[in-house]
Amino acid sequence: MKSMRYAAISGWGMAVPRRIVTNEELAQRIETSDAWIRSRTGITQRHVAGPDEPTSALAVAAGREALVRAGIPPEMVDMVIVATCTPDRPFPATACTVQQRLGITHSGAFDLAAACSGFVYGLSVGTSLIRSGASQTLLLIAADVFTHLIDWEDRNTCVLFGDGAGAVVLQATDQPFGVLASNTGAWGAGEELMAVDVGGTLMPATAALLEQRRQYVYMNGREIFKHAVRGMCESAEQALADAAVTLDEIRLVVPHQANVRIIEALAKRLNLPMDRVFVNLDRYGNTSAASVPIALYESAQQGRLAQGDLVLLTAFGGGLTWGSCVLRWGSPVPV
Ligand code: ACO
Repeated sequence: MKSMRYAAISGWGMAVPRRIVTNEELAQRIETSDAWIRSRTGITQRHVAGPDEPTSALAVAAGREALVRAGIPPEMVDMVIVATCTPDRPFPATACTVQQRLGITHSGAFDLAAACSGFVYGLSVGTSLIRSGASQTLLLIAADVFTHLIDWEDRNTCVLFGDGAGAVVLQATDQPFGVLASNTGAWGAGEELMAVDVGGTLMPATAALLEQRRQYVYMNGREIFKHAVRGMCESAEQALADAAVTLDEIRLVVPHQANVRIIEALAKRLNLPMDRVFVNLDRYGNTSAASVPIALYESAQQGRLAQGDLVLLTAFGGGLTWGSCVLRWGSPVPV
């Protein structure tokens, strides 16, 4: 009988831009305050990419660290997925740039666009590729320079976001590590709740549209807030049920880092104490697809995850999209 294949997480990495923008700095530029941003979102600072830090630069740095930690030479990687909604260029895929810059010579490479849910979507797709036998060693990177889409004069959005990248190496194993159950969801009817209209084929950029600042993100924060809490809660409960584990067995919940009030509302709904929920958005803001892997990375580095622990990831983003997964941390050959 053929044994079950799993996709263990054998390496992890992250990268953020050098420049930090504090709430105080924003308050000098626009009508806002550190007190407002902190109390409404929990954010105190964010990292913001400079002109020499495109999405691929952050993705390469995070990917390289993940490969080194896994002890994997680049030529062993047979698939590169970059989850991003801020690619370097409309085409080719940023994953191709990253593949080449990392010295990966024999792999497929593609981008995956699911906004802030990109990493959870990527884990689900990557695990499926490994389970099917199509892939043995896969590099999943979630990277966004979301501040590229931000109107720095719009206080409703500019205080919320930061830039970054997180990466994991997935390796085939017959031991039950990595994703045990996952789900992904989308509600296209909610596409107008958060979007960038200009710059694609629907509305190519023209001088007049740029003048109207239509190349920047707009968002209905209050509506997204409600959908985020409900969406993450329901998909998290589904993932637990599909993995046949209870919340009590989960060592740590690592949610998308958009707003601490969203995370607290999620914890309350799940009846989960906040000391089992990881939060680092105070230092990074919402880094879009990179938020979950950066939080996962810091959970591991801070010793909050050990080999064999069960972790619940849940994310929510524009689209609307959402997804959750239950995973067993570590790898049969500990790194
Ligand atoms: N500083 C000061 N005042 C502000 C600021 C600011 N930066 N931003 C908004 N305000 C004002 C508003 O103008 C409003 O004033 P008004 O009452 O006079 O009209 C007031 O503050 C309250 O606005 P609300 O929208 O009610 O504030 P709320 O408590 O809902 O918080 C927030 C807003 C932080 C945006 C919240 O709704 C939120 O986090 N929503 C989720 C957004 C999100 O996560 N988006 C990302 C999705 S993930 C992805 O795909 C990238």
